[in-house]
Amino acid sequence: MRENGPEHCDVLITGAALVDGTGGPAIKADVAIRGDQILALGDLTGITADETIDASGCVVAPGFIDVHTHDDRLMLENPQMTPKVSQGVTTVVDGNCGDSLAPYSGKNDPPPPMNLLGNRDWFRFAQARDYTQALEETPAATNGILLCGHSSLRASVMDDLDRPATPAEIDRMIVMLEEALDAGYVGLSTGLAYPTAIAAPTEEVIKLARVTAERGGIHTTHMRDEEDHVHEAIDETIRIGHAAGCASLISHFKVCGQQNYGRSRETLDIVRKAQEGMTLDVDVYPYTASSTVLLKSFVERAERVQITWCTPHPEMAGRDLQKIAAEWAVSTDEAIDRLNPAGAIYFQMDEADLQRILATPGTMIGSDGLPHDEIPHPRLWGTFPRVLGRYVRELGVFSLEQAIHRMTGIPARVFGLENRGVLKPGAHADVVIFDPDTVTDTATFDDPIQPATGIARVMSNGQWIWRDGQATGATPGRQLKRQAAQQAA
Ligand code: ZN
Ligand code: CU
Repeated sequence: MRENGPEHCDVLITGAALVDGTGGPAIKADVAIRGDQILALGDLTGITADETIDASGCVVAPGFIDVHTHDDRLMLENPQMTPKVSQGVTTVVDGNCGDSLAPYSGKNDPPPPMNLLGNRDWFRFAQARDYTQALEETPAATNGILLCGHSSLRASVMDDLDRPATPAEIDRMIVMLEEALDAGYVGLSTGLAYPTAIAAPTEEVIKLARVTAERGGIHTTHMRDEEDHVHEAIDETIRIGHAAGCASLISHFKVCGQQNYGRSRETLDIVRKAQEGMTLDVDVYPYTASSTVLLKSFVERAERVQITWCTPHPEMAGRDLQKIAAEWAVSTDEAIDRLNPAGAIYFQMDEADLQRILATPGTMIGSDGLPHDEIPHPRLWGTFPRVLGRYVRELGVFSLEQAIHRMTGIPARVFGLENRGVLKPGAHADVVIFDPDTVTDTATFDDPIQPATGIARVMSNGQWIWRDGQATGATPGRQLKRQAAQQAA
């Protein structure tokens, strides 16, 4: 029986420590949910509920926002979104690193790294609207925020990606980008380090970022360089932001290669100074290994390389590149040629840099998980619980309230979401309940497909999507559009 008075709600969560996503201290408070909204917070003794959950000893927080994902296809293929909801994630930002499943109007199979999302059969959405319609017809458990990928645009309108786009090609890209922004996409992503976009001059990006800025959108970037020339790459990002008047987000902020270990001091300093004159944010994943497609230029700087998937030799997934080369008695280059198309994990970062980036106020958390890899980087299943377990509880790099702020309230501001990323009356009911004493990642590089422990329940738009260690099957996710215009430059 359901009543409708203010004294009745659908779900009542009692006894938990409430961390509301604003960065403020945890308080003891009950949470009442009615429909898809938070009805009330505080001492709610006396309120009746269809379902009451005793969450004593747990934390209740806004559902996490994974600001850096490649979940465009996963949302359609596995709408339960198990790798993400098992971590407490209720919203994902898709289309990062220049690669969005849509729009793509090319005739051929998408080139690497776009192929980490699949082949031409998956890249079947010529217009952004086709993809948003598909999501509407078969929604996912999580909400989705969509970015339009620069490489996807280039591969749609150019016959040869190893050169700058012509003015006519840029005009065609702008039409596709405008259609995406009209369909509720929140901005443009670039992956300037990749073969699909490395030949694009800064000016080409500025033209697209300007169109994005006119609609209040954001530019997220996998920068042109994350190793020896990382300083210049950050300068380029800042230049694009200023010239286009566009809010900017540096994805998976890092410095790669042993010779650059320690340089996060310098790179964080450039960002801090730039923030005085523009809107610039960064996100990070809590690991010292990266992962993408298998590329010679990326192998060179890594200490160790592990294969994540491989079309010609699927049995090599999970194995060490050096060992494969030795077994075949060939050079590393020859082994790479034989393995491609393939994906890889690159061990190439310093733990001290990672902790310095994590400890910097404002740094957001983004998994960068690759959901279609055979033996994926463990960040796909482990990112958020690892931050809460290893970096908050064990190492004390920041407080629990700070960590949650960077997973909820800050991303909501950066992506212009109203009434998300915060628990307050009237906010959308995206909620996670977890045990702060036990929450941790269990996914490892050897055994990466493992749900975290300590995540008790997850709710998106008022419906449970994770409970008793499994996805419930509910798919209440929505496409989230930018509501608050970002202030740039
Ligand atoms: Zn990237
Ligand atoms: Cu990425």
